[in-house]
Amino acid sequence: MSGRKKRTAILISGRGSNMTAILKAARDPDYPAEIALVLANNADAKGLATAANEGIKTAHVDHRPFKGDREAFDAEIQKVLEANDIELVVLAGFMRILTASFVERWTDRMLNIHPSLLPSFKGLHTYERAIEAGCRLSGCTVHFVRADMDSGPIICQAAVPVIDGDDADSLSARILVAEHQIYPQALALVAGDRVTVDGMRVTIRHDEPVDGSVQLVN
Ligand code: GAR
Repeated sequence: MSGRKKRTAILISGRGSNMTAILKAARDPDYPAEIALVLANNADAKGLATAANEGIKTAHVDHRPFKGDREAFDAEIQKVLEANDIELVVLAGFMRILTASFVERWTDRMLNIHPSLLPSFKGLHTYERAIEAGCRLSGCTVHFVRADMDSGPIICQAAVPVIDGDDADSLSARILVAEHQIYPQALALVAGDRVTVDGMRVTIRHDEPVDGSVQLVN
């Protein structure tokens, strides 16, 4: 690959399957990001053990001693990120709300994945709400993080069908497959300096022409 790999931290709270997908992609010598740190807010996050087994440096910043002082919790995370010379932050199922000042510091350098086609269904219970609304398509979105939750400029999205009879479990499983595809791709685009952000619009420099054909689902 041309250029230096970007030192990247992945922040998790639990299972860490998106983290695992990114770790796998990052094994490619041409992948433009190096996963230099995996940080969790709870010591028993399954993903923390997975990362450690893969030989990735891990850190644990417990939110509980901060007793709701989010500024102080975020300052501690910032300290760990700086100590590890982190350049990009990837939120992968990190279930703490970050303060506006922390988010500001990482403008256009912090990514999140959300299990809906934003701007529809921000927040929680995305699968139930998409099914309840009668959507024929749902999916996932990787976006830059802004202070308002699930609201930042969109880097990549993938759509999956909502199938008659779906429940939250079946739909979330289908969306998760798509998450594992687009999150490593989105990080590669950002780490490879292929995106520019203008307001809410992200422009991507592609090597190949983009397929503009209409795809019908259901
Ligand atoms: C993923 O489905 C991700 O989209 C979701 O949490 C899950 C984490 O799974 N994130 C959010 O809902 C954030 N609003 P993972 O730990 O297996 O990657």
